[in-house]
Amino acid sequence: MYLATIYEIFFLVYIIMALILAVILIKRKHKIAPIIIFLSIAGLIYSGYIEPQWIKIREQKIETNKLNEEVKVAVIGDWHFRPFKGENFAKRAIAKVAELKPDLILMTGDFLFFDDLPDFENDLRALGGLAKIAPTYTVLGNHDYGIVFPDESFLYTDSHREITKILEDSGIHVLSDEQKKVTIKGEEIILAGFDEYWRKVRYPEKTTKGLDKISALKIGISHHPDIAFEKVAENLDLVVAGHTHGGQVRLPLIGAIGDAESLMAKDDYGKYLPNHQPQIFNTVGIGESGPHLRFWNRPEIALLRIK
Ligand SMILES: [Fe+2]
Repeated sequence: MYLATIYEIFFLVYIIMALILAVILIKRKHKIAPIIIFLSIAGLIYSGYIEPQWIKIREQKIETNKLNEEVKVAVIGDWHFRPFKGENFAKRAIAKVAELKPDLILMTGDFLFFDDLPDFENDLRALGGLAKIAPTYTVLGNHDYGIVFPDESFLYTDSHREITKILEDSGIHVLSDEQKKVTIKGEEIILAGFDEYWRKVRYPEKTTKGLDKISALKIGISHHPDIAFEKVAENLDLVVAGHTHGGQVRLPLIGAIGDAESLMAKDDYGKYLPNHQPQIFNTVGIGESGPHLRFWNRPEIALLRIK
């Protein structure tokens, strides 16, 4: 039985039990408790089925003295395809990206939730639509390697090879601890793509090698924002990252609920940190992992206006 089915059953059982309880309490002349129960049901339905589908465009100006003209960079992270989001969601999101007319598209990994769910190939292939809009570069994230915790526990997959192949076949460049030079509007930009931070074998020094001698704008792409706190990132101008999902569920006045096991302070999840060196742009992502819930934290496509 797929996780999605288990999840739907859990939702349904919870809602039916809550409704029965509300009816019993109403019959016993309770007033406040049934209202609380109805609100909890509405909140669950909203955060399970409405907000996760409600894509937001988040525009962010980023200042640099390294560009003469504004460059528009779309950033998308944490698709987490299957069981809840797939090809149709991807196509809807890509149509929104096309409207933004970005010069460059960067993705920050976590394409899958679990790799043992079927049919993710079509979802990944749908992302080829991005490469038709603008040059598209990505790195992989912990879920793409099957790593759930920083100590590499739950290493259950080798599917990163398959993911890489499908993405590359679809026109998307997958960066694994490597640099790429792109020219946009006549300006050179260096992309430094870090492979998954929680892997035991990784080469961040190789990713940033020689950057101290390059004066062009240097953008690091990493699934985890944590790389931006390491010395190896000191010569980058900006790191775009995902992973935190902005806490996924946020409460007004309280902030992020989910814990991403990151060096980033929880208050900074999903934020742009212009005063950090390098600057950090952390996307709240477009998909969900763990509980399929989002609240006060809509899935986003970010559009960085860098000048
Ligand atoms: Fe993620």
